[in-house]
Amino acid sequence: RKRVVVFISGGGSNMVALADACAAPDFPAEIVAVISDKPTAGGLAKAAERGIATHVFERRAYGSKGEHEAAILAALAALSPDIICLAGYMRLLSADFIRPYEGRILNIHPSLLPLFPGLHTHQRALDAGMMVAGCTVHFVTEGMDEGPIVAQSVVPVLPGDTSDSLAARVLTVEHRSYAQALRLFADGTLRMGADGRVARTGFAGDAAAS
Ligand code: GAR
Repeated sequence: RKRVVVFISGGGSNMVALADACAAPDFPAEIVAVISDKPTAGGLAKAAERGIATHVFERRAYGSKGEHEAAILAALAALSPDIICLAGYMRLLSADFIRPYEGRILNIHPSLLPLFPGLHTHQRALDAGMMVAGCTVHFVTEGMDEGPIVAQSVVPVLPGDTSDSLAARVLTVEHRSYAQALRLFADGTLRMGADGRVARTGFAGDAAAS
């Protein structure tokens, strides 16, 4: 089973969805630790309840972004993860941080990328008059919310929706999408290709063609 470290900053419902998926005996991954940049993140208690080790690295405890990331990298080296899942981790990782884990970091973003990268995605979708919204799981590259897309799920925008009601609808499909994406990456069905797109292997059609 692939070793996964999940990064959170908040409630951790996506982390819980991944942990629940990992609890199935045939799931190809396990969560070995949860890392948070916020000591108040609600997800920390949910991880602890599930017997998952937690580590907090508060940004303000370090003099610079580089020192903060270096401390996290040192902890990661001891955990030797195969995969890092960002699950509501609200900091942009530097290129230096990403490099040793290139192609092995997944993120979930609450919009249909490349629409609405960054913050306030649901309000921006409503302001744009979108009739659908959704989420994207993607590989993390240096640009914010820019890496190759692994999975997406769509929900309707309904009359009377607020940013909160839309966020709640999107969140339910985030949980399913993220667990499915982690399964496909962990079992080797897909990976980040050298061309910066997602390469899929392991389909019968691929074997016949080769
Ligand atoms: C989720 O909606 C996730 O997509 C979003 O934060 C929420 C975290 O919820 N992530 C981002 O906005 C990343 N920029 P959770 O803590 O309950 O998983």
